[in-house]
Amino acid sequence: MGASSMSNPTSPRVALRGDLLDFTAAPAWGAVESNAVRFRADHWLPVEGGRIAGVQPGDQQPDDSWARHDHRGRLILPGFIDTHVHSPQLDVIASYGTELLDWLNTYTFPAERRYADPREAQTGAARFLDALLAHGTTSAVVFPTVHRVSVDALFAAAQERGMRLIAGKVLMDRHAPDGLRDDVDQAARDCVDLITRWHGRDRLAYAVTVRFAPTSTPAQLAMAGQLCTAYPAVYMQTHLAENRDEVAWVRELFPEARSYLDVYERAGLLNARGVFAHGIWLDDEDRRALRGAGAQIAHSPSSNLFLGSGLFDWRAAEAANVAVSVATDVGGGTSLSMLRTLGDAYKVQAMAGERLTAWKALHASTAGAAAALGLADEIGSLNAGCVADVCVWDWAMGPVAHRRMDVAQGLHERVFAWMTLADERNLVATWVAGVKRHERAA
Ligand code: GUN
Ligand code: ZN
Repeated sequence: MGASSMSNPTSPRVALRGDLLDFTAAPAWGAVESNAVRFRADHWLPVEGGRIAGVQPGDQQPDDSWARHDHRGRLILPGFIDTHVHSPQLDVIASYGTELLDWLNTYTFPAERRYADPREAQTGAARFLDALLAHGTTSAVVFPTVHRVSVDALFAAAQERGMRLIAGKVLMDRHAPDGLRDDVDQAARDCVDLITRWHGRDRLAYAVTVRFAPTSTPAQLAMAGQLCTAYPAVYMQTHLAENRDEVAWVRELFPEARSYLDVYERAGLLNARGVFAHGIWLDDEDRRALRGAGAQIAHSPSSNLFLGSGLFDWRAAEAANVAVSVATDVGGGTSLSMLRTLGDAYKVQAMAGERLTAWKALHASTAGAAAALGLADEIGSLNAGCVADVCVWDWAMGPVAHRRMDVAQGLHERVFAWMTLADERNLVATWVAGVKRHERAA
């Protein structure tokens, strides 16, 4: 990997040609015809200084001062934003036979202990971020581990690749094995040190990272809440109401709280920069509180299916005006591919008799996620001025998908079939801030 283009002011002029797809607003639920969709068949996307410089029709070729990449007949989208994923959990992806709490104890905690070793943390971070890029994900909100070195390694690796990355040291001071627990005072010092060194550096941002309510004492939750108040620009990420046994355990541990979300709210952890993974077992009052705070739910359908956690009620979140983004939640989720994850999201909604359009799904994983993170001016769209995090995709791979594309009629039918049938094999190239960071082998 070369130096990031952010530290390279002379990054060259580049222009990509293809079918450009992004969103100018949030599509309405269930609408296959939507003014929010911006599809510009066969256009050039010029990129200068790492940022999108505009667009022009395919027959108006940029001059020789631009390095031209002609992907005519291919799809170009903003890079995907995965709003909840665990970097050390590539080691436990696809582990058999457990629900959440057993899965954590049997597979996940032992794997995360390895990240105490700086070399493991470094090689793991590089492997993880290269894998994200090879799946078309250019930005992510990430859980590393409880170990400070895991955060340093992840931020350093993201900085090398010029990526927009949000992460923080996992807080866990109880109900976790030896080698994975911190304590309130040391954790507070580590967080302040990490925020000071990483938050706002290049494209990196810190997130106060509470694993979930059961693995933090009330004192640690309160400390985390104080960090959010002291550093209002940092994000907050945690898990919320994923699994029924987990929810029952939280009720036992925090009998004074009205609900699982209320545990976090009482600790000062519910705010507009909050990213709450799952949110399956919520009630209307929880949704009103999330909406009131401006926090988002990182819906993780692949994980929810794999761990048998439950079916997320996206429609209720939509009705309550709660922002919903989409996340792989690897290693609970079984793929880093946001496309496969969107396919699972469609199926989860189908189980509830709902219909997730390709527009809603793709918006939630690009511009919608960017808006919920307060980053709409930087990522998630092909607007001029945004950082050029873009991916080039083949519309079809293999005879089945080619045939489906040949007979598809209308834009939504084509894009929905692409979303459902495509995966990382369709990815031709990934650009981050105008620098090519991944290319499919010839
Ligand atoms: N809840 C607490 N930790 C985790 C985790 O690592 N993955 C998932 N899916 N849920 C969690
Ligand atoms: Zn998770």
